[in-house]
Amino acid sequence: MAKFIIKGGNKLNGKVKISGAKNSALKIMAASIMAGGKTILKNVPVIDDVLTMAEVLSLLGAEVNFDSANNILEINSDNIKSFEAPYELVRKMRASILVAGPLLSRFGEVKVAIPGGCNIGSRQIDLHLKGFELMGAENVIEHGYVYLKASPGIARSSKKKLKGAEINLEFPSRGATENIIMAACLSNGKTVINNAAKEPEINDLANYLSKCGAKITGIGTDSISIEGSDELKGCEYEIMPDSIETGTFIIAGVLCGKKVEIEDAVWENMGIFCPKLKEIGVNIENKEDNTIIIKKSKGTLKPAYISTLPYPGFPTDLQPIMTVLLSIIPGISIITENVFENRFMYADELNRMGANVKIDGHHAVITGVNKLSGAPVSSTDLRAGAALVLAGLIAEGTTEVNEIHHILRGYENFDKKLRNLGADIIKVS
Ligand code: EPZ
Repeated sequence: MAKFIIKGGNKLNGKVKISGAKNSALKIMAASIMAGGKTILKNVPVIDDVLTMAEVLSLLGAEVNFDSANNILEINSDNIKSFEAPYELVRKMRASILVAGPLLSRFGEVKVAIPGGCNIGSRQIDLHLKGFELMGAENVIEHGYVYLKASPGIARSSKKKLKGAEINLEFPSRGATENIIMAACLSNGKTVINNAAKEPEINDLANYLSKCGAKITGIGTDSISIEGSDELKGCEYEIMPDSIETGTFIIAGVLCGKKVEIEDAVWENMGIFCPKLKEIGVNIENKEDNTIIIKKSKGTLKPAYISTLPYPGFPTDLQPIMTVLLSIIPGISIITENVFENRFMYADELNRMGANVKIDGHHAVITGVNKLSGAPVSSTDLRAGAALVLAGLIAEGTTEVNEIHHILRGYENFDKKLRNLGADIIKVS
């Protein structure tokens, strides 16, 4: 099994360029199911989740070509014939359920495996299904699959399978917002999503769809309207930079950087993350050309109270990574996790490295320690794995991070980028 071996103590110095956003690329790839002709995506990260989504699309019948050396992905969905996303792929990557909205919108039916829970929480899809139902799709759940079919007779023309609807999300779920936006694109009439998620990746998806001919308004707000179109046409589109990778390298810079310049780093896309770091004393600077610079802080950093929330709140995906930083800041910090109920699985691993993190329900109480010490640890999920790698960079001695298949799902060239900054990290298989 592949693992990262890290010798702690090196200072990071230099420039690192952020890759395309995983959580935008995957959705735009799914959306391309509805676009006639060719979609050409640029700045697509070469990560395992993108390869899995490419596999899902190919299985459906799309033609997919990935020029991974240049991060360019071409998709032609004209010959899609299947409507089924099988369990083996959905189990491997939950985002596979994002093909449901586009397939339903284009063909009026879809069969998709129910993803089940994962290492960060139960992760239901009830809000997706409720949205589809309001748009006229009946659903049957059988043998671990949900089968959705547009009710006959609701559409104005045979081309349009679903009808527009007003959908009030009980929680601003990203996945539900994205799936419903996509389902609405080829439907009959207007769909309004209230209490929609506002993450910048959702804007990226909406901007791609608009470029394909979709009529979407309210992008970036919590009320998004979509007027169904007759057809969408494939286009060329550049994926936005990854804000969670940006946050990961920011924290790496704070932990052990002399001066780290992070390029293609969009401050505004990070919500309150960067202002929060400033508040605790981090020396962070936003330059106009989408570069964020981290320099050594002048004084001691202060402990913090943090609550994760949907954008623009503190991102849950950066919660484990922030815990590593708080674990070496003198005093007591508290993190409250409000998005996923089980996102502290990594705490025991971090404690094996000498941290003092106590979990009480959805709160983590972090008492700052003087140092961490290297140990063999295991990634419990993608961001937890990245957090353990960062812990290894500052730990005394050698850290071995196992189960790195989680990390490879979402970070392009993680070890190489860290090595280029001066870290002593190698990947062994
Ligand atoms: C997306 O997951 C991201 N994944 C996650 O990134 C991220 O942690 C999460 O949003 C929150 O920001 C992708 O974009 C592929 P949600 P998603 O629907 O869409 C509950 C990473 O590390 N909920 O906003 O699945 C759900 O259980 C990953 O890159 C329902 O109850 O998140 C959770 O508690 C991991 N019913 C909360 O809402 C539903 O129908 C947020 O989920 C849908 C969600």
